[in-house]
Amino acid sequence: MGVYTMRCSLNMSAPVIMLAAAAMGLAQSPTFKVGTPLSPDEIRGFDMMVGPEGKELPPGSGTAKEGAEIFAKQCAVCHGKNGSGGPANRLVLGSPGNPHRGPWKDTEKSATSYYPYPTIAWDYIQRAMPATKPGSLTPTEVYSLVAFLFYQNGIIQETDVMDAKSLPKVQMPNRDGFVPGKPVWPPVPKKPSWY
Ligand code: HEC
Repeated sequence: MGVYTMRCSLNMSAPVIMLAAAAMGLAQSPTFKVGTPLSPDEIRGFDMMVGPEGKELPPGSGTAKEGAEIFAKQCAVCHGKNGSGGPANRLVLGSPGNPHRGPWKDTEKSATSYYPYPTIAWDYIQRAMPATKPGSLTPTEVYSLVAFLFYQNGIIQETDVMDAKSLPKVQMPNRDGFVPGKPVWPPVPKKPSWY
């Protein structure tokens, strides 16, 4: 309502109206019920970034067996039983003892096994999965899920324990498969043909 009144009396241009509306929306969010404040626990769930060396990995540990149970309950509905099939297919491309060694095609991108570093799987799963409740898994659950997916992909043994020390040491089959791309920006000007 307020936005309309302003447009009439001040005759603002469209972008200004949109900005004003956005600002008012922020100021009045309780009225419009836009978003809810995150609890400190929820913030903690997102406030972590794990690099290739895994220095930021928290305490906790897990094995493929433990991961299998969590996967069946929280992940299989989208990723299929054991990580293949389902609407968000292709978490698993290899098989126990037999890692997929590429070449990784575009259609195979969604697979835990193509990551160059093992810690990416931990970082991604803890931050983004399950897609319906990201940030809700405990560190031990994430270690277990990573162990399960690496085992299913043939990268580690079923009994291997994943923790802050062992996980960064896992040798990924696609470790050397990434090459620096050509810069796409700024675009290199082409010489005109008559030049
Ligand atoms: C509600 C559906 C849903 C659930 C439940 C879910 N996922 Fe996902 N997951 C997705 C979708 C969709 C993507 C692809 C996201 C994208 O590409 O942006 C994805 C992507 C992933 C990827 C990244 C694959 C890649 O591209 O590298 C991993 C790993 C993963 N999920 C693991 C899990 C695990 C582990 C669980 C259980 C804790 C889980 N997911 C639960 C829907 C789901």
